[in-house]
Amino acid sequence: MSAIAVMTSGGDSAGMNPGVKQFVEHSLERGLKPYLIYDGLEGMIDNRIKPASHRDVSGIIYKGGTIIRSSRSKRFLEESWRQRAYDNLRSHDIDKLVVFGGDGSFRALDVFYRDFGVPFIGVPATIDNDIFGTDYCLGADTALNIIRQAIDDVRDTASSFKRAFVIETMGRDCGYLALVSALTSGAEICLIPELPYDLDSLGRRFKREVQAGRTYIIAIVAEGVKFAAQLTEWLEDEIGMESRLTTLGHIQRGGSPTVHDRLMGFEFATLAINGLLEGRGGEVVCYKKSKMIYKPIGEITEGTYKINPLHLEAGKKLTR
Ligand code: F6P
Repeated sequence: MSAIAVMTSGGDSAGMNPGVKQFVEHSLERGLKPYLIYDGLEGMIDNRIKPASHRDVSGIIYKGGTIIRSSRSKRFLEESWRQRAYDNLRSHDIDKLVVFGGDGSFRALDVFYRDFGVPFIGVPATIDNDIFGTDYCLGADTALNIIRQAIDDVRDTASSFKRAFVIETMGRDCGYLALVSALTSGAEICLIPELPYDLDSLGRRFKREVQAGRTYIIAIVAEGVKFAAQLTEWLEDEIGMESRLTTLGHIQRGGSPTVHDRLMGFEFATLAINGLLEGRGGEVVCYKKSKMIYKPIGEITEGTYKINPLHLEAGKKLTR
């Protein structure tokens, strides 16, 4: 019986658990012997690799994070540690890999594929939704819903107190989480790395609006802009509204996966296994124009993700 393993790598995201559950169940349905690699690439180096059964993945579908844990591995960059990882896979007769993670993890696995020829298929999974070649990355919907809830809650207190609130979202260098959250929560300001902003123009606008009766302001700032604290001070000093900063931080990575992330986890895992059984390797399952397709890893790692132009256009009015 051919053996196949799964790992989750890089920043965890909701939907990984439903994906891992489907990985085990679909592998068994397809006549494969499933293995779980704990702690991502670090676990592959340290042989934390265990055969899996239905029992290992029962009751995990609603859980956030990843029950097989994750890591960001520096050791994997070195050939000698990759050799150790390969020897571990061989000791279990594993000759196929499914990897949930971001493009950094895919790049690492691609080197491993070229070193030792172990075919892998990547599943894009990051709350940042910033992987080139796919419209959707597992976990983004759950993170967006966590952010939506936080903004709705902050609005209650902001409007009760005549205050300005700056809410900083994650996303690394990508403004997707901030922009989609701002557009779907009716925020007044949104600053993201992809769009220039104009404080003078924002100042003129809000002074006018406050005079006309505006009682509170909600501003969403992507962490990549590195301007959340400064904007909070600016709102207080320039606009004259008492201001507070809320940094959402890692709560955006947690939480029970939404229905969308459960379903996407199911589909991504199914396609990853089917792709490997068709003889594919060094590819990523991408969700493009409402369809699941396979793309070679090189295509994914060479490009830069671009936010939907319609959303960017709509976001411009929140920057000036
Ligand atoms: O890539 C996911 C992410 O949550 C980013 O949005 C954030 O910049 C980063 O990971 C935080 O990394 P860590 O959990 O290592 O602090």
